[in-house]
Amino acid sequence: MKIIITKNYEELSKVAANEMAETIKSNPKAILGLATGGSPIGMYKELIRMNKEGEIDFSTITTVNLDEYIGLSGEHTQSYRYFMNDNLFNHINIDKKNTYVPNGLAENIEEECKNYDAKIADLGGTDVQLLGIGNNGHIAFNEPDQELVAGTHLTGLTEDTIKANARFFDSIDEVPKTALTMGLGGIMKSKKIIVIASGEGKAEAVKAMVNGKISTNMPASMLQMHRDVVVIIDEAAAKLL
Ligand code: GLP
Repeated sequence: MKIIITKNYEELSKVAANEMAETIKSNPKAILGLATGGSPIGMYKELIRMNKEGEIDFSTITTVNLDEYIGLSGEHTQSYRYFMNDNLFNHINIDKKNTYVPNGLAENIEEECKNYDAKIADLGGTDVQLLGIGNNGHIAFNEPDQELVAGTHLTGLTEDTIKANARFFDSIDEVPKTALTMGLGGIMKSKKIIVIASGEGKAEAVKAMVNGKISTNMPASMLQMHRDVVVIIDEAAAKLL
């Protein structure tokens, strides 16, 4: 793992955007694995700026997102499809037909998962996968557990995650209890992985991801087995390293 420690969130966002921009510049047809949550918002703002200033072009780029809540349509303001449109896609020159997010309203969930993995395989896999990390060490919605699933699958959310994500909803009761998520297999197949984390609240999880034993109870620790991971964290998140 290559670790980059930045002064603050602003610098983290710039460094992460530059990493992503490198992939886009070196391969105009790159397949980008993208993430939601608070962590990537600054990075997406920076990518929007670069695109508007003509530094990077998204017209032939394809994106694949990690996860989506079950039961929320793409128009729901807390769905991850809405998040991606609002925080990135609506502001760059990407063709939305080339942006993939699992469908949380799919009638046949099993089929949706199978098709999502087939789509990723069809695209040749992701060139780079962006990841945030949950306070409990989850990545995408792969929660700590005795077993982890390789492919895209339906999962329940832990109390921790429901609580953490309640900040985006009007009340905790509105947070969906289940989601579709890319599995560890799909994530680990990416040619390159960028993990971003900011703030003291992430320090424990970052420590376990970087230095802890590899365990399904700490899904992020699995990333130690990937050959090209760049961890970009601010000083607060790096506090326990
Ligand atoms: C969410 C998402 C993850 C995200 C994580 C951290 O539940 N499913 O993909 O990385 O939690 O979110 P944040 O960046 O808001 O701390």
